[in-house]
Amino acid sequence: MPETVLVTGGAGFIGSHTCVELLGHGHDVVVVDNHVNSSPEALDRIAKIAGRPLAGAYRADVRDRKALREVFSSHPVDAVIHFAAHKAVGESAARPVEYYDTNVAGTCALLAVMHEQRVHRLVFSSSCSVYGDAGTVPLTERSPVAPTNPYARTKLMCERILEDVCDHLPQLKVLALRYFNPVGAHPSGLLGEDPRGVPGNLMPYVAQVAVGRRAQLSVFGDDYPTPDGTGVRDYIHVMDVAEGHRVAVGHLDDRTGMRVFNLGTGTGTSVLQLVAAFGEVSGRPVPYRVAGRRAGDVAELVADPSAVAAAWDWATTRDLTAMCRDAWRFQELHPDGYSCRPPRAGGPTTGESPCG
Ligand code: UFG
Repeated sequence: MPETVLVTGGAGFIGSHTCVELLGHGHDVVVVDNHVNSSPEALDRIAKIAGRPLAGAYRADVRDRKALREVFSSHPVDAVIHFAAHKAVGESAARPVEYYDTNVAGTCALLAVMHEQRVHRLVFSSSCSVYGDAGTVPLTERSPVAPTNPYARTKLMCERILEDVCDHLPQLKVLALRYFNPVGAHPSGLLGEDPRGVPGNLMPYVAQVAVGRRAQLSVFGDDYPTPDGTGVRDYIHVMDVAEGHRVAVGHLDDRTGMRVFNLGTGTGTSVLQLVAAFGEVSGRPVPYRVAGRRAGDVAELVADPSAVAAAWDWATTRDLTAMCRDAWRFQELHPDGYSCRPPRAGGPTTGESPCG
């Protein structure tokens, strides 16, 4: 069982919840994050919830090999979970070069330093969006892939690179997890999703409308071939995603090479169903208007989660009500998010508390 886990993007939405889960199960955790879309405040919250500190936290970009080398030299890293990446579909169409640079070049830089430092265990953060429009739902890991936007293509490219590297470096053990749509928050209300600027994803947008920070939701298309015409997704509670990563770390040594797993619930929910569920849980109806389709979107993405269940004897447990309830608790407690000042440049971030 890997003891010390390096988590890139550990202050981000999924990363921070995964750190809590790892610390709670006895791992030592080191975070690397450049805070381009995350707050250092999340690091203090992680330690508070877990009741013990991170082994280290560094403000650094994953493309910065020198910085990565220093982190690896300072900690006995046994395994890496690589979250650090850009993740918004719409933004990826507007800023594709940035997406390829951070997501693909960042993964290569990390792999290079891991190789130098003889660290051979990696859990890679992939995405259901690699399936694109190609498959019929539910999607298994053998469903055809056909990404429809630059973000999804960066994830598929990384998978291909990892597969090829594993073929040539037999000591490597890689698990790529294709997660569906992570939402929700830690049940304590201390940790949650706090995107910078206008939220690119549905659940944080809905939560910000409910709390009064935004006037109304734009529903991107109601003419899809789905029961109510709006996009259907497999929303998964972020605590289930975090748990899935912790379980994955324990299975890295099952065998060498590259393996790919879906991380989803198997249940599809439309935009309008999510809006209704959130309104019910929060007691605040969410006003919306139907807008045009968003470029790069697909009608339906729902997982067949049976491969992970068979391999790890593990399944998700939290339903849509829990996802909405926990997302709402965080939003209600933090109407303006973590509301931090911009982080200071350079150096370790542990112990800093930039929030007033
Ligand atoms: N949607 C709206 N209005 C919004 C935002 C989204 O109607 O303001 C709709 C979308 O059209 C889609 C559904 O809500 O039908 C979900 O959209 P998201 O943007 O929340 O998520 P995506 O399905 O586009 O998935 C992307 C990535 C995933 C990632 C997920 C959460 O492809 O890999 O975001 O970060 F997991």
